[in-house]
Amino acid sequence: MVSRIIPVDPFDLVVFGGTGDLARRKIIPALFRRYCAGQMRTGSHLIGVARSALETASYRQLVAEAIREFSGGRACEDGTLERFLEFVEYIQLDAQGEQGWPALGELLQGDRTRAFYMSVGPSLFGDIAGRIRVNGLVNDATRIVVEKPFGHDLESARALNATLAEHFGEAQIYRIDHYLGKETVQNLMAVRFGNVLFEPLWNSQYVDHIQITVAETVGIGGRGAYYDSAGAMRDMMQNHLMQLLCLIAMEPPARFEPDAVRDEKLKVIRALDPVEPHHIVRGQFAAEGDTPGYRDEVGAPRSTTESYVALKAHVSNWRWSGTPFYLRTGKRLVARSSVINVVFKDAPHSIFGAEAGQHSNILSIRLQPNEGITMHVTIKEPGPGGMRLIDVPLDMSFAEALGPDGQDPPDAYERLIMDVIRGNQTLFMRGDEVEAAWAWTDPIIAGWQARGEVPKPYDAFGKGPEDADHLMRRDKRDWRGIKP
Ligand code: BG6
Repeated sequence: MVSRIIPVDPFDLVVFGGTGDLARRKIIPALFRRYCAGQMRTGSHLIGVARSALETASYRQLVAEAIREFSGGRACEDGTLERFLEFVEYIQLDAQGEQGWPALGELLQGDRTRAFYMSVGPSLFGDIAGRIRVNGLVNDATRIVVEKPFGHDLESARALNATLAEHFGEAQIYRIDHYLGKETVQNLMAVRFGNVLFEPLWNSQYVDHIQITVAETVGIGGRGAYYDSAGAMRDMMQNHLMQLLCLIAMEPPARFEPDAVRDEKLKVIRALDPVEPHHIVRGQFAAEGDTPGYRDEVGAPRSTTESYVALKAHVSNWRWSGTPFYLRTGKRLVARSSVINVVFKDAPHSIFGAEAGQHSNILSIRLQPNEGITMHVTIKEPGPGGMRLIDVPLDMSFAEALGPDGQDPPDAYERLIMDVIRGNQTLFMRGDEVEAAWAWTDPIIAGWQARGEVPKPYDAFGKGPEDADHLMRRDKRDWRGIKP
């Protein structure tokens, strides 16, 4: 199965923070892969912008190294990298001063799409946005791309939104949550709204509860300063898990269009009840052999920041009243695994009697790795004798079902950058959505702080704190295992 590539018209992509980690690991390799795939056409420009004094040749070298290291080794024709590098330019620029802006203006071409990607700290968003405007760099097809963290709380998110709104309209602003760019996350919408099978059962009458797990094996790496001031709640729950919850819980939008989809997601966030303190578990990973514990890794011996959080949420609306959503995410867990389990209620009456056993139907949507869907169904245990029921998986791995396309899905950034260029905001967060997510998150964090709560230690490479199991067991439920 070969996916259809629709080339985009030549464009200018300006990356502020063009020598930084995100540019090297994600943005540059994503663009290169789109070039290899034939979607980015000759004549487009990638313009790296940063404070360092670099010749274009040295920047091209940095770009080439980033591609070699991070582009995932997709086979490209010989000479592709060399041709790609010809589109790469570099400008040394002072985001808070005047240096470099005229030179940047000279590189930008006519009326074609120009995207300014702010791969820098949020404290520079205002300076950059203002200087783009006063230097006359805005044309009719200008887009501003901003990365998370989009604020630290509701107040700072509002301030950022207000700063951007001084210079740009909402239709020009693309707030990235890279989870929305993942193939399988978009598949959530395809599965729900492209099939007649699930939607009639997709409510509290049939769904007992929903589990969303995003587990990572990695620790904090070189991001200690940022992470220790954020924690799992701000780093993952407020954005990535919140987005997954929205896509699972939202009403069908009338069309797959930016505001239709984002309106429905916003309604879900606004329908979330405040989370009860005893419905949240925070954890912090301990040392394991040569692997340092959280506090050593971030260099903060008394840190009370959580590297794990599990909680029970309620979406108070007609569809979901009475169906809890259990969400958990953490670092240094037993496996890298992101899965959504929709656990259906038991059949209302067993004609086979209690001794036959009873199993819930579960729809498991695996986001990564080994993307796919499994439906657990109940069948008869084979063999003569009495009627005993067992649970078997109807398992579909996308890699097997889709052939080569399923095995090497595009990285989230490939899709998101192309959507920016095409001007499609469906997979980007609107300002009000981000603010609503903070409005739900802030009281949770404020509660921890007011109560002086300290996260529970948990074993590195385990399943997280015991208390997370109790959170479920109190409700006579269990987490599904975290499997690679
Ligand atoms: C980022 C978080 O947004 O997402 C990281 O800041 C996290 O802490 C990462 O590791 C996870 O992304 P992925 O695509 O590897 O699941």
